[in-house]
Amino acid sequence: MEHMLVTGGAGFVGANFVRRALAARPGLRLTVLDALTYAGSRDSLAEVADRITFVRGDVCDGDLVDALVSDCDTVVHFAAESHVDNSLQDPTPFLRTNVEGTFVLLEAVRRHDRRLHHVSTDEVFGSLPLHGGGAFTEQSRYDPSSPYSATKAASDLLVRAWVRSYGVRATTSNCANNYGPYQNVEKFLPRQVTNVLRGQRPKLYGTGANVREWTHVDDHNDAVLLILDAGVCGETYLIGSGAEWSNRALLELTLTLLGRPADDFDHVPDRPAHDLRYACDSSKLRRELGWRPRHPDLADGLVATIDWYRRNEWWWGPQKAATEARYAAIGR
Ligand code: NAD
Ligand code: DAU
Repeated sequence: MEHMLVTGGAGFVGANFVRRALAARPGLRLTVLDALTYAGSRDSLAEVADRITFVRGDVCDGDLVDALVSDCDTVVHFAAESHVDNSLQDPTPFLRTNVEGTFVLLEAVRRHDRRLHHVSTDEVFGSLPLHGGGAFTEQSRYDPSSPYSATKAASDLLVRAWVRSYGVRATTSNCANNYGPYQNVEKFLPRQVTNVLRGQRPKLYGTGANVREWTHVDDHNDAVLLILDAGVCGETYLIGSGAEWSNRALLELTLTLLGRPADDFDHVPDRPAHDLRYACDSSKLRRELGWRPRHPDLADGLVATIDWYRRNEWWWGPQKAATEARYAAIGR
């Protein structure tokens, strides 16, 4: 029976991955390693708690990681500090978790010759121009803009070097913006949806012209499962649905779906070094591994996601006040 170690499995993408992997692979043995930072919650794993082993611990803890890796066949690495605005305020935990944590994990999979999949972001490539810039490909130049994306870029490069230098069996994926259930309310869509549900006005950075490509978290995780099964070690795969929206247009759609006037939001000061546009060319993943997004229509996925936040205030309510207080302190 395959034994999979999932780092960061109590976070947004990781917890959705755990549910998806268990559903897709009935005999799977699965261990989650998660430090339970502000972004991690065991509540996100409540539905599958009796099917997993949960270890609260730090991916930078070499002895713990060594023991867990030696006991598994496959490692999927989601653990990270993930929020750009937080990285602008204090990059320190980003350097530690994203760079040192990936290094610790790579050394363990090297010692024990385990298969690793490293989950990364399209933000490592920096910004595309708003118009006429095509999309990122696996060959795009690394050009990160924020402390978050710089540390993710460093982690990707560590993985590449460990593959070349030591023959580590690893793949990497870089995905665009995800949405779906269990996403922390600091992120764009859950922040705006929960603001409206709490009777507060959504906050749009700058003019809202910035474009993001939105991929449902289950489509991201289906791609990760496909790469684990059929991906070629040493290769990188870009993941993106093709659903590009400006922040402003997406906020207007969200407000409309929530029954509010489309202009019922506030402009707040822009994020420094705010990347203009992200888009991933996922044709390699589609051509070689047959991946297709099951949620190509963002509006449909958004209706379901809004409904999830409506029904699950028990999950997001306790995070909300502290998150908005952090934003208020930086004027956003
Ligand atoms: P998240 O912030 O929701 O979750 C991160 C998880 O990692 C949390 O459970 C947290 O407790 C855990 N963690 C943090 N530091 C740790 C440490 N030192 N040791 C162990 N666990 C630790 O993040 P997310 O949005 O789920 O992102 C997960 C991964 O996917 C990240 O690597 C991110 O770069 C990547 N990614 C995310 C998106 C997206 O849109 N959310 C898109 C592309 C790639
Ligand atoms: O592209 C993948 C990345 O997507 C992941 O690597 C990151 O972990 C994830 O956080 C996300 O990064 P972004 O910075 O794009 O996501 P965020 O949700 O913070 O913001 C999305 C866009 O919305 C961005 O252009 C900033 C804007 N924004 C964000 C917030 C929180 C607003 O206009 N208002 C807001 O309140």
